[in-house]
Amino acid sequence: MPLTTTGELVTRARAARTAVAAFNIITLEHVEAVITGAERAAAPVVLQVSENAVRFREGRLLPLARAAVTAAERAAVPVALHLDHIRSDPLLRQAADAGFSSVMYDASHLPYHENLAATRVAVDRAHARGLWIEAELGEIGGKDGRAPRDAHAPGARTDPAEADAFVTHSGVDALAVAIGSVHAMTTRTASLDHALLERLTATLDVPLVLHGSSGVPDEELRAAVAGGIAKVNIGTALNQALTGAIRAHLGAHPDAVDARAYLSAGREAMARTVERIVTGVGLSPA
Ligand code: G3H
Ligand code: ZN
Repeated sequence: MPLTTTGELVTRARAARTAVAAFNIITLEHVEAVITGAERAAAPVVLQVSENAVRFREGRLLPLARAAVTAAERAAVPVALHLDHIRSDPLLRQAADAGFSSVMYDASHLPYHENLAATRVAVDRAHARGLWIEAELGEIGGKDGRAPRDAHAPGARTDPAEADAFVTHSGVDALAVAIGSVHAMTTRTASLDHALLERLTATLDVPLVLHGSSGVPDEELRAAVAGGIAKVNIGTALNQALTGAIRAHLGAHPDAVDARAYLSAGREAMARTVERIVTGVGLSPA
C-alpha cells in the first residue's frame, strides 16, 4: 500500500470520532512489530521517529527512515511517517525527502511567547515543505529522563484560552495538550483531566494529541478519545515489551548467542502490545 500522510489519518480518525495510534520506532524490529500489530488489528498507524531516536542512530535519519518507508509500502494497512519532538532545523529540512509527511515541533519548555515565536517559524518552514505540523502547549512531563513537573505548577497544564491564541497565531495543524499524562511511565496508572479536555475540545478547531500514552490505562484512553483526542502517542510500552521479552529469553537460555532468537521474541512481544492497545482502545478501526 502506498505511504499515506499523518494529516489524512488524523483527519479521517477525527471525522469518525476516534483516534489514530502513533508508535515511536527506534530499531527495524520496532518498525516490523508496529506494522504487524496494526495489520492484526486492521488499523492504520503512524510510525514516528523522535529527535532522540535520531541521536541514538548517531544523528542519521535516513537508514531508519528508508527501512520504515520500505516496510510501510508493503503493509496491508495505511501507514504514515512522523518526526516526533524535534527542535532541529536540519531535521525539519530533511523530513519530506526522507518520507515523512509530518513533524511535531517541541518548544514547550520555553515560556509562552518564546514557544509561540519558535513554533511560528517552524510552522512556516514545515508548510513550505508540505508538512503537517503539531506543536505542544503546556508541558507534558517526563521527557529525557527528567522528573515530571508538579501537575498544578503554572503552565504544567494546557490553558484553553492560551491554547486558542497559540493555535491562531502559530498556524499549527494539531496541538499536543497537557491534561495529566506523563512521558515514560512504566505503570498504566495516569488519570487524565477530562473536564479540561472537554474545555479544550470545545475551544479549539485543530485535532488534539495525547502524548505519554503508555502510562494511561485503556479506559482512560477510551474516554480521552471520546473527549476529542485524535492522535495517541505510544513509545515506552513497546520498549517495555521488547526488553521484557529479551530479558526472559536470555534468562531461559543463558548460553544463547544468536541475536535472531531473542530479537524475534522481542519483536513478537511488541507486535502483541500494538495489537492489544489498538484493539483494546478501539483506535481507528477499519
Ligand atoms: O511522543 C511520544 C509519546 O509521547 C510517547 O510517550 O513513551 O510515555 O508512551 P510514552
Ligand atoms: Zn511525546
